[in-house]
Amino acid sequence: VLDKATVVANSMHRDELLFSYKGIPYPITFCSPESFKALESFEARSDDVILAGYPKSGTNWLRQILTDLIAVSQKKTPGSESSASDEDLEEFPYLEVGDVEKYERMTKLPSPRFMVTHLRPENLPKSIFKNKVKILLLIRNPKDVATSFYHFSKGLASFPSYDNWDDFFRDFMTKKMPWGCYFEYVSEWSKYTDKENIMAITYEELKENRALGVKNIAAFFGIPLTEEELQLVVDRSSFQSMKKNSDKTHGTFGNIFFRKGGVSDWKNLFTEDQNEKMDKVFEEQIAGTKLGKKLKY
Ligand code: A3P
Repeated sequence: VLDKATVVANSMHRDELLFSYKGIPYPITFCSPESFKALESFEARSDDVILAGYPKSGTNWLRQILTDLIAVSQKKTPGSESSASDEDLEEFPYLEVGDVEKYERMTKLPSPRFMVTHLRPENLPKSIFKNKVKILLLIRNPKDVATSFYHFSKGLASFPSYDNWDDFFRDFMTKKMPWGCYFEYVSEWSKYTDKENIMAITYEELKENRALGVKNIAAFFGIPLTEEELQLVVDRSSFQSMKKNSDKTHGTFGNIFFRKGGVSDWKNLFTEDQNEKMDKVFEEQIAGTKLGKKLKY
């Protein structure tokens, strides 16, 4: 998917890369107004597994953890050949990324289907909430998200790239990012966190204690884990291990998806003025929300 999108994006002008759907910009090489229309009638199953997170929050990290946990629940060994599904049955896990026929094909996938999404809750298909699908919601400190996003934009042709950080920061703060505004994302999802089918986790807490995070995630999805299985999932999800394995999992894109994998890299980019600006918006828009309170800021 990334290879194909890159070829198309390379032939496009920077200004053509994003299109707007319901007021939010998206990369045209990944989604389209037609695919969004088709997504509306997507029928979720109650045993689907969903990972939601704003771009650059660590979705590839949690994607591996969840895929491994699903493998364990099916008595397969995470990372082994036997845990890979039949290729014909595979779909790119990002829910909103694909062609208009994707959702028809997904009706044929065996349960549990795993999907990742960067969408805000109000733009997800209604059946997800109606069928009480379990959602793991991942959030990350916006300063590190912006930092990660800036570097990533330079490496992925499907996103408009920026020559300098100041221009990127301005657009990040004025809702011009692919998938929209971080602050609106967090405040919209905050309205959903009381639901029993949603578990929120922060990048920072997982970074601090991966074993505890994996245990909590497994418990939320009702997946029993032996000590050995837990250890295997934890070991495989270290930054070093994922980066090392990234040529297999992400091909030539490995380096841009697994960059530094830490906390506070924003200190290398933000000016004092930018820091104050973001603190102010954080305080005004999300500090008082459920997710805002959970975030280590
Ligand atoms: P940095 O750019 O700060 O390094 P996403 O997967 O949503 O695109 O998020 C990418 C971010 O998650 C990158 O952050 C990446 O390094 C980080 N990441 C990926 N795997 C990780 C891991 N195993 N542990 C910690 N961070 C990880």
